[in-house]
Amino acid sequence: MTEPAGAAVTIPDLLKKKAAGEKIVALTAYDFPTALILDEAGVDLILVGDSLGMVVLGYKNTIPVTMDEMIHHTKAVTRAVRRALVIGDMPYFSFHQTEELTIANASRFLKEAGAKGIKIEGASKRRLKLIEAMVEAEIPVMGHVGLTPQSIHHLGQFKVKGKEADEARKICADAQNLERAGVFCVILECIPQDLARRVTAKLKIPTIGIGAGPHCDGQILVFHDLVGYSIGYIPKFVKRYADLQSVIGQAVKKYSEDVRTGVFPDETHSYHRKKRIEK
Ligand code: KIV
Repeated sequence: MTEPAGAAVTIPDLLKKKAAGEKIVALTAYDFPTALILDEAGVDLILVGDSLGMVVLGYKNTIPVTMDEMIHHTKAVTRAVRRALVIGDMPYFSFHQTEELTIANASRFLKEAGAKGIKIEGASKRRLKLIEAMVEAEIPVMGHVGLTPQSIHHLGQFKVKGKEADEARKICADAQNLERAGVFCVILECIPQDLARRVTAKLKIPTIGIGAGPHCDGQILVFHDLVGYSIGYIPKFVKRYADLQSVIGQAVKKYSEDVRTGVFPDETHSYHRKKRIEK
């Protein structure tokens, strides 16, 4: 272990984990009870991802997610977490206007919501300048390259990036530029595993993969995918460890049957008035 058991995970701890060859365990969370369970299970990093929009708010993609929605859910997560490093995701159009507005939005995750840093998609020249400005403003930044879901309208669909040599070179250069700009780690999403291995070997900061194979310094999944509680398309890279959708469906069916047949509530789930003591 690179940090004492129970101590809060810090950014330097993540860097030490990479140096020691210890894998970083990361998951998304968007609410208090989930964050509590993840934290108690020993997850190192919790991302309040803008996947919130698709996973729990029912949007078609992540584009409609607002800063206020992100702050609301990040607050719920940080209320629960004692140990894991909580990172808030900058939603679409929270960093596309001025540098001042970008820093103001990013700082809300730290000041209002209690997160320890932010994540931002992409590595264009302008994005790198914004990242430098945020780091200068003491805001820890996590990068994100490969498939960047906020570019959905350019991409047309969510698909593996970096299969062609040119695109692979660009992803590698983007990750290195992010490191130079000061990010403390980088998400590699949906890229071939040998490319992820190459990027991971080139960087001093940790890489955290999602659909990027086993050679990254850590792994992240969307929590709802992991436990079988997400609606719709499930990508190939997801491993399901539970089937909550059917567990919940069955529980609700049983409850409905019990209510309809009068089995619930019974004596054990009902209250009584105090017994009168007769004199
Ligand atoms: O929004 C999100 O949950 C993410 C992860 C999938 C990395 O960006």
